Amino acid sequence: MGTDDDPGGPDGAPERTGHVAWILVGRAQVRGRLQPVEIAIDDDGIIAALGRDLRGGPRHDVGDSVILPAATDLHVHLREPGGPRDVETLASGTIQAALGGVGLVGDMPNTIPPVTDSDGVEEKARRVPGRAAVDVLLYALPVRPRALARLAETAGGFKVYLSPTTGVEEVPASVEVPGLLARLAELGLPVSVHAEDPSRFRTDLPDRGLADWNARRPAAAELAAVASLGEAPPSLRLHVAHVTTGTVADRLRAAGVSFEATPHHLLLSERSGDSSYRKVNPPLRSEADRAALWARFRRGEVPCLASDHAPHSLDTKDRPFDLAPSGMPGVETMLPLMLARVRASELELGTLVAAASDRPSRWVGQPRGRLAVGHRADLLVVDFRARTRLEARRLHAPCGWTAFEGWEAIFPREHYLRGERIVEDGQYIGRSVGEVVRPEYARSHPPARTRTGARP
Ligand code: DOR
Ligand code: ZN
Repeated sequence: MGTDDDPGGPDGAPERTGHVAWILVGRAQVRGRLQPVEIAIDDDGIIAALGRDLRGGPRHDVGDSVILPAATDLHVHLREPGGPRDVETLASGTIQAALGGVGLVGDMPNTIPPVTDSDGVEEKARRVPGRAAVDVLLYALPVRPRALARLAETAGGFKVYLSPTTGVEEVPASVEVPGLLARLAELGLPVSVHAEDPSRFRTDLPDRGLADWNARRPAAAELAAVASLGEAPPSLRLHVAHVTTGTVADRLRAAGVSFEATPHHLLLSERSGDSSYRKVNPPLRSEADRAALWARFRRGEVPCLASDHAPHSLDTKDRPFDLAPSGMPGVETMLPLMLARVRASELELGTLVAAASDRPSRWVGQPRGRLAVGHRADLLVVDFRARTRLEARRLHAPCGWTAFEGWEAIFPREHYLRGERIVEDGQYIGRSVGEVVRPEYARSHPPARTRTGARP
C-alpha cells in the first residue's frame, strides 16, 4: 500500500514546493512493512515529503502508533434534506465519519426530494460549508434526461437504482438500461449501481425474518442485474454497490469493474438473528455466501469497502419484520471493525487500506487515500492496542443502535483532514471544515482498475 515506490505526486498534480507547516512522526507501512516514517505537511494540507530526518516545521511524534491514509466511504445516506433530524443530519453523519476514520463520504441521492437536477445538487451543497465534519461527494439520480448535462457539471457522481428500495419507487425498465449507461459514459462522471433485478424478487414468499428476506430478494436477482450491466460501454466509470456473493464478486473482477462490499455483508449473515435491525437491501445472505465474500476480501479481490450507512429510527425498526425499513448505520464502525480484524491477524493492513482508502479515492478521482507526496494529508493515527467493544450508547449515531453491538473495534486516536486535526484522543474537535468535492481526474485519468471489456 501507500508509499510503495511512489515517484511523487498523483498523476497530474504539481510537485510540492510549499512551506512545511508540520511533520507527523510515527510508523507506517512502507513497501509492505511497518517502519518508522516522517510525513511533512505543507500549508495547504498536502503531503510535501515522506522520509526520515525531515526538517522545516514542528514535529508531532505519535511513537509506535500507525499512520494510515483516511478512508473514503463511497456509500452513505445522510438523509438531508427531508429525513427526520433525530435520525441523521449532514452534521451528525459526517461527525460519525470523522470518528470512524473516514475523510470523504459519497452521499446518496435518495433523499426527500431525491436529487435529480442541478438545483437539487446545489441545495445539498449549500448545506456543507460550516456543517460538514469531513468532505462530501454528492451523487445524483439520472432519471430526468434533460437535466443530465447540467448535472454532470455539478454532481460528483451518479447513482443508478435497478430495483426499488428506500425512497426509490421508479426504476428504469431493463430495456432502457443500456441506453442510459451509454449516455452516462459520455458524461464522464463515476456511476454507482444498485444491482438487483426486481423481476427476480419472490414477493409471494413469507416475510418474517432475515432468511425470508434473503429468499424474497435472492442472490439470483443480484446476479441477473450484474449480467445486464454487460452492455455498459467500457469507458463508463462503473462501480457496483454492496456486492453480497463470491459469484458476483468473481464476475465483476473478471470484467475489471469496480465494486464494493459492506461490513455487514462481510461479517453478518441471515443467521445473525432474525431481527429487523439487520434487515437491509440487498439482504444478508447465507453463512456460505458471507464466508465466500470475506475470503475474497481477505485476498484483496474486493476493490472497495463501503458502509452503506443507512440509519432508520428505533421506532420504525421496532416494527414487525415485514413493516420495518431496510438499512443500518455503519460509517462510524466500518473501519474500526476492520482494524480489529487486522489486529486479530484475519486481514492484512495493506489489503484493508487499499480497499478502504486507495481504490475508492481513485474511483472518484481524488488525490487522497495513499501516503504519497502530492496527496492530501488526510491521515489517521491508530494505536492497535486500543481495542474496544462496540456499544450503541457510546457511538454517535442519533438513531441510537448498531447491528454490531459487542463486536471488537479499534477507533483511530487522531484524524487529520487536509492537515488539520479533527479528532484528538478519539473525540471530535473539528471546526466543520468539510467541503464538497468532485472528481478531479475523471475525464483524463482512468481508474486504478481498468475495464477489460469482458462481460460481467
Ligand atoms: O437497505 C437499504 N437502505 N438499501 C438501500 O438501497 C437504501 C437504504 C436506505 O436508504 O435506507
Ligand atoms: Zn445505500
